[in-house]
Amino acid sequence: MSTETFVEPEPTPLALLLLGKGADPDSERGVECPGDLPAPSDPDLVARAHAAKEALGDKVFVLGHHYQRDEVIAFADVSGDSFKLARDAAARPDAPYIVFCGVHFMAESADILTNDDQAVLLPDLAAGCSMADMAAIAQVEDAWDVLVDAGVADLTVPVTYMNSTAAIKAFVGRHGGTVCTSSNAKRALEWAFEQGEKILFLPDEHLGRNTAVLQLGLTLEDCVVYNPHRPGGGLAPEELRAAKVILWQGHCSVHGRFTLEAVEEVRAKVPGINILVHPECRHEVVRTAEYVGSTEYIIKTIEAAEPGSAWAIGTELNLVRRLALAHPDKQIVFLEKNVCFCSTMNRIDLPHLVWTLENLVEGRVVNRIEVDSEVARWARVALDRMLALPGVQSAPARAQD
Ligand code: 13P
Ligand code: SF4
Repeated sequence: MSTETFVEPEPTPLALLLLGKGADPDSERGVECPGDLPAPSDPDLVARAHAAKEALGDKVFVLGHHYQRDEVIAFADVSGDSFKLARDAAARPDAPYIVFCGVHFMAESADILTNDDQAVLLPDLAAGCSMADMAAIAQVEDAWDVLVDAGVADLTVPVTYMNSTAAIKAFVGRHGGTVCTSSNAKRALEWAFEQGEKILFLPDEHLGRNTAVLQLGLTLEDCVVYNPHRPGGGLAPEELRAAKVILWQGHCSVHGRFTLEAVEEVRAKVPGINILVHPECRHEVVRTAEYVGSTEYIIKTIEAAEPGSAWAIGTELNLVRRLALAHPDKQIVFLEKNVCFCSTMNRIDLPHLVWTLENLVEGRVVNRIEVDSEVARWARVALDRMLALPGVQSAPARAQD
């Protein structure tokens, strides 16, 4: 038998991240969780959250994205999709603290859109977004150089989905482009085609393709996919010159999971069922769906649905579960056999929220998201262009074939 003493291995950076501690400087998410969190098993968590919120009163404004856990949404002053939350954050200039229950890029946008004397807090800095991580600013700058070399940069308007870092929003602002969300992508692309001949769409290839083809009437051949991991994006200069839309190769790890097979399976099981999906889903899924739109649109569609109607929904599971509970008179199923939570959205839980609120009560601002002022200035230009788009508040159109 060995007499060697067992030495506990040092946790790897990834293991620390999963435990909510440590840092990953290469990631879109912050990433560090200082301090001691309350135990998830603490039976007083709900009472502590109520007490802290009451003590803070109007000083705190809690925003919750629709994909947040029920235990967190229960304490949100407003809930919404990323577009609604960006507007709501800007609409409360009197609140010194904005606690953002969502992901890192959303908190960055809130910081950019709020006053300098307002602090935006993200209860867990590890709440990032895998899609936003798929486009780093250095890669986007390299891609622009590729467009310059192909002689098309002057004709190209960059459009970035809200789900991107502030640095990329700033890049887009500096190059005459705009931000969009899933509820205004059609209008943003129309606007971009009024400004130039081509669009560089970042970082979600599915939203870009679905909007260009199903809402603007372009063809699949009008779109090319730029792979940031290959020289020249994996595209020849002639391909860049011929394309109308250059799609960044990125996707959402949640919405990318819904498949045509899952649609066919549920249609076979429940004849007449309506397929309702988010436009971050793959093209073949969105093309076959009866309804497609942002999370806000999905909620409104279910609210307006006839009692007794059947729906298979392709979006994040927290939202689908809440919709099913809120509408027992409608048959609502999840469009996927496997569990599909957004793991990073789920990082924000009641212990992190309580920790954040109680620190504020003690006068300590934790996990503040502060965007560099020069980045914020240009990102704001791009965000303001989006907020000024005419008709952006209207509901997105139904998917068309
Ligand atoms: P919306 O909130 O714009 O619907 O986007 C969904 C999403 O994936 C947010 O991360
Ligand atoms: Fe990112 Fe997708 Fe999660 Fe939204 S649902 S935060 S796009 S990984």
